[in-house]
Amino acid sequence: MNTVSPQNSRVISGMRPTGRLHLGHYHGVLKNWLELQHEYECFFFVADWHALTTHYDDPTRIPESIWDMVVDWLAVGINPGSATLFVQSRVPEHAELHLLLSMITPLGWLERVPSYKDQQEKLKEKDLATYGFLGYPLLQSADILMYKGGQVPVGEDQVAHVELTREIARRFNHLFGREPGFEERAEQARRKMGKKNAKLFSKLRTRYREQGDQEALEVAHALLESQGNITISDRERLFGYLEGGGRVILPEPRPLLSKASKMPGLDGQKMSKSYGNTIALRDEPLVVEQSLRTMPTDTQRVRRTDPGDPERCPVWQLHQIYSDEDIKSWVQEGCRSAGIGCVDCKQPIIDAVLGELRPIQERARELEQQPDLVRNLINDGCEAARDVARETMEEVRLAMSLVFP
Ligand code: TRP
Ligand code: SF4
Repeated sequence: MNTVSPQNSRVISGMRPTGRLHLGHYHGVLKNWLELQHEYECFFFVADWHALTTHYDDPTRIPESIWDMVVDWLAVGINPGSATLFVQSRVPEHAELHLLLSMITPLGWLERVPSYKDQQEKLKEKDLATYGFLGYPLLQSADILMYKGGQVPVGEDQVAHVELTREIARRFNHLFGREPGFEERAEQARRKMGKKNAKLFSKLRTRYREQGDQEALEVAHALLESQGNITISDRERLFGYLEGGGRVILPEPRPLLSKASKMPGLDGQKMSKSYGNTIALRDEPLVVEQSLRTMPTDTQRVRRTDPGDPERCPVWQLHQIYSDEDIKSWVQEGCRSAGIGCVDCKQPIIDAVLGELRPIQERARELEQQPDLVRNLINDGCEAARDVARETMEEVRLAMSLVFP
């Protein structure tokens, strides 16, 4: 069932505070965010509670990590004018939604999420047999559903979490979207659209329900989106009515797999802090240069006069990211014929990386000197996020009968 409405093309994504970011984050995530912020309403946040699920025994460095991460976001060009930037723990509604969703979440659903066992295996030195860690993906669901986010840019490893979120949303809507007299209320809502639109809606609904016509469903969604004069609740009713359920209070999100390439690290493996193969966005140019100059090359090319094979060389992987066709054929040629040395081969990459980092580092320096500005930006973002979160929570509480008589 497709319950994602086009209105919910809102984008929501979070990042755990890992401190200063590196080129892997830039190419793998942030460049994608930079594009999205121009196209959609975006919410980007620091998932500090998620960090606590694995670092509860040593949280002292989290605040600094949050700060450094936000500075890096801003330095690469994430624009608080286009995207709402906030810190998860500063929007405590996320905790409330997590709690309420936990009431309807079968344990098995959480135990089955692949990252649960994987991470416990991987981080053996930590005791992750905690309630909080089991709930990690559910907290993520709360993050997403809070903003009725239609699109969630995530890496491959997070897709299962978005899938879980979809199941939670479906269950929530199923349990709490039903209301006495639903059909009548939906019919009333339909008539509020005006004669012509009401009729069109009925026609599309029949076409979808009787013939499974997807196009009719999409047109009907668009029709509902364009209705300015019906209430949110009525719109939710009509979405549900269209597809045969109750009201759609929490729309199902979908993962947005970034098309960005995997950034190789200095050793050819994926760039990651835990492999010690990173170039941080704020590494001094001299350090960057040194790291690239000393990075390994084709191990079978021992002497300058030995021909090499770019396929065996991590430097070649960086050329794939940074170099144009001309340079790439120069590398292929020169390496295989021993026409160029590895030092020559690395120079265009050194130039490209330094060129890429220069404006980022300039902005970062400016931001570092204006902590108040950064603080205000975060405060404003948290407030804006809370406004949305409060609204969602009101609907959620009402749907779950959390109202005082
Ligand atoms: N779990 C995500 C990660 O490790 C971070 C995250 C938390 C997130 N909440 C989210 C991502 C909501 C997308 C949407 O990268
Ligand atoms: Fe690698 Fe370039 Fe040296 Fe060939 S010439 S081994 S591609 S660094």
